[in-house]
Amino acid sequence: MKLQSLATEVLKSHREHFQSEPLICRAPGRVNIIGEHTDYNEGFVLPAAIDKASYVAVSKRDDDSIRLVSLNFHEEFETRLENLKPIPEGWANYVMGVADQLLKRGYKIGGFNLVLKGDVPIGAGLSSSASVECAVAWALNNIFQLNISNAELAEISQKAEHTFAGVMVGIMDLFISIHGRKDHVLKLDCRSLEYSYHPLELGDYKILLLNTNVKHSLASTEYNDRHAECRRGVEIVKSKYPEVRSLRDVTTDMLDELVKPVNELTWKRCSYVVNENKRLLEACDQLEKGNIEELGKLMYETHNGLSRDYGVSCKELDFLVDKVKGMEGVAGARMMGGGFGGCTINLVKEDAIPSLVKKIEKDYKAAMDIDLSYYIAQTGDGAGQIII
Ligand code: GLA
Repeated sequence: MKLQSLATEVLKSHREHFQSEPLICRAPGRVNIIGEHTDYNEGFVLPAAIDKASYVAVSKRDDDSIRLVSLNFHEEFETRLENLKPIPEGWANYVMGVADQLLKRGYKIGGFNLVLKGDVPIGAGLSSSASVECAVAWALNNIFQLNISNAELAEISQKAEHTFAGVMVGIMDLFISIHGRKDHVLKLDCRSLEYSYHPLELGDYKILLLNTNVKHSLASTEYNDRHAECRRGVEIVKSKYPEVRSLRDVTTDMLDELVKPVNELTWKRCSYVVNENKRLLEACDQLEKGNIEELGKLMYETHNGLSRDYGVSCKELDFLVDKVKGMEGVAGARMMGGGFGGCTINLVKEDAIPSLVKKIEKDYKAAMDIDLSYYIAQTGDGAGQIII
């Protein structure tokens, strides 16, 4: 029903604005079970696509204009293919970024009309921007018959984010938005881009997302800083081990020997990443065994690492994780995504959710004076065309 209604909305709006018949595509947001800040270090991640997505209705034009409408923001934007450049902020960057990447890679595209609407909460760390980029990439690939592979569509969307939003994101969000599969997590090796699907069988547990409803403005600069710190750590290790390419190749012993004496902060950051990769492999074993309580413990460890060593949490996220710890029916919790706001991901027994939410809503409001929102995440499929 919901899927149909957003798709129908962009279709109707497209007909009204442009008097033409569009192609409709959608691409989802994501959750990530474990493996945070590992993707741009060539490590592993374990995301799943969710049922919230961005929908685009796109048709070709016979000039080189691009005309865009956002139904979420009630805004329109217009430019020409030869004038594509980032604007200070906003949704149009994600569309322009994808078009620009296609042109830079030599793909032949012309002007197009596009109407966009999504239900991925914005700024919640559920990858709403990736879902827009992937829906646009999927749609343009189709209407201009470019025959681009799924892996390249993810890369194009990632580059769009680098160049038009200025955040040096890893591949995780884009990859899962394209490749997601309902009821499955995807284990992705971010070095080789090899991946495998695993059933997401949580027994009595559900994935509960608690949204802090804050997004601190330092999120993107700090994200890029962490990226740089990880590279600095790799450079130090390389001085003795030249075969090392990324933190994927680095061991705790190497960090202790070479990085700790030179730069304690870089050592802390890099140690978190090396440990998180190990944790992910262990988490996959626990998930396979159906041992959700053990998986939950690993999530708490991840949160501690992200908060204390990697330095990407914030008081609101820490508050939510601390509060649920030890509560009835909770296996584990941690901040999710880039950090500095957005959601925590919690594994909670279904029948414990109503009372937990009630209590946390009250406590969060009292402590932070902010309203909490929450979602029970349902998995969904990756990007695709929608026929109405
Ligand atoms: C953001 C980025 C991802 C990833 C996560 C942290 O969501 O877009 O590439 O780095 O942060 O794991």
